[in-house]
Amino acid sequence: MSNRLNVTPNDLSAFWMPFTANRQFKKAPRMFVRAKDMHYWTSDGREVLDGTAGLWCVNAGHCRPKIVEAIAEQAGEMDYAPAFQMGHPKAFELANALVNIAPEGLNHVLYTNSGSEAVETALKVALAYHRVRGEGARFRLIGRERGYHGVNFGGISVGGIVTNRKMFGTLLTGVDHMPHTHTPGKNQFTRGERETGADDLLSELERIVTLHDASTIAAVIVEPVAGSTGVLIPPKGYLKKLREITKKHGILLIFDEVITGFGRVGTPFAADYFGVTPDMIVCAKGLTNGTIPMGAVLVTSEIHDAFMQGPEHVIEFFHGYTYSGNPVASAAGLATLETYKDEGLLTRGAEMAPYWEEALHSLRGLPHVIDIRNLGLIGAVELEPIAGSPTKRAFSAFVKAFEAGILIRTTGDIIAMSPPLIIEKSHIDTLIGKLAEILKTLD
Ligand SMILES: Cc1ncc(COP(=O)(O)O)c(C=O)c1O
Repeated sequence: MSNRLNVTPNDLSAFWMPFTANRQFKKAPRMFVRAKDMHYWTSDGREVLDGTAGLWCVNAGHCRPKIVEAIAEQAGEMDYAPAFQMGHPKAFELANALVNIAPEGLNHVLYTNSGSEAVETALKVALAYHRVRGEGARFRLIGRERGYHGVNFGGISVGGIVTNRKMFGTLLTGVDHMPHTHTPGKNQFTRGERETGADDLLSELERIVTLHDASTIAAVIVEPVAGSTGVLIPPKGYLKKLREITKKHGILLIFDEVITGFGRVGTPFAADYFGVTPDMIVCAKGLTNGTIPMGAVLVTSEIHDAFMQGPEHVIEFFHGYTYSGNPVASAAGLATLETYKDEGLLTRGAEMAPYWEEALHSLRGLPHVIDIRNLGLIGAVELEPIAGSPTKRAFSAFVKAFEAGILIRTTGDIIAMSPPLIIEKSHIDTLIGKLAEILKTLD
């Protein structure tokens, strides 16, 4: 195709890359051309161990046969069916399969194409749910500082990322934020969840509810573990208490499980790990093992049924995407869930977590390391920023890691890792061993 159009992959100017330092990248491109199981291969033939499951999404490892076959088969059999007022069987099958692995009570599924769209969908469901029940005054949405809920306007409004708020403003009105769950100086080098702090953090939610009055608040949205802003783990009891407070005030609780869903913390969803059932779960990424874009929102029957009123020919929820439940994505999702089931991957993280934790914390004491955090198969190593040049030290670690044959991810000066759930102990040794050597060489 590229020959026919007379363009070469060496011309890198046309593609304005997402969340990328474009000028730096295009001077020294880092290209992957092939992947299998735990590894990528670069355009110059080097093997790179995947320490991040792509972007927290390839939970079953790369190019898994069942998923590859299902995609090819579906693309040949029926590529697309209209998503509105028409259906196809696989979208229904996948919804049933999702409900089967979801926490009890989350019985209905809305599809999207990404995590960002799933967030927008959940926020709209929350607002509309209160409206159809005659509580339209509940228009406020509460998020959290350092929360990441994708890149669309709803998500960046409830999210708590300074650059987003500075560059794009927050179009949603009536949004407020709880404090984030990271307390530097109090919880460095904690393994998993820390013992204390939940009450202090949540007294802020009580304050917000008192300020605005519960009758104006539609929903609270949080990531059970904040990932993109550097792996911020809540203290013990935090999410349970959050559930109690929201329930008491009739406020919906949305868990954004775009990265924590599908086995990342050793259970199918983080809701299972923390023993807390929200009113909605937002998911994406691992839903199709990163192969075909797809997101979903799981909702309770109580929410779903509130919409199923009025004349039957009328659309109950005025929302959806051309590609909601796309046949190829649905086939990929079904084969992904089968692969997770066949190989016990939704709980494998729990088996590997102790080894992962031990290996990660062995980095303590290396130059510039000021904190290490972990839960399930998530890990973060926070580096002291270079004075006056924040993010530079971690970015340099990222580039050196790529050159040394490991893929890590950085956010600010934090190295975040989230390997495929098929990882073996030997891979952990390689990943952490190489990272240790790199940390020793950083300026
Ligand atoms: C918690 C969370 N929500 C939403 C998103 C956005 O997902 P997407 O990039 O698929 O739009 C992400 C992406 O990393 C995420 O981590």
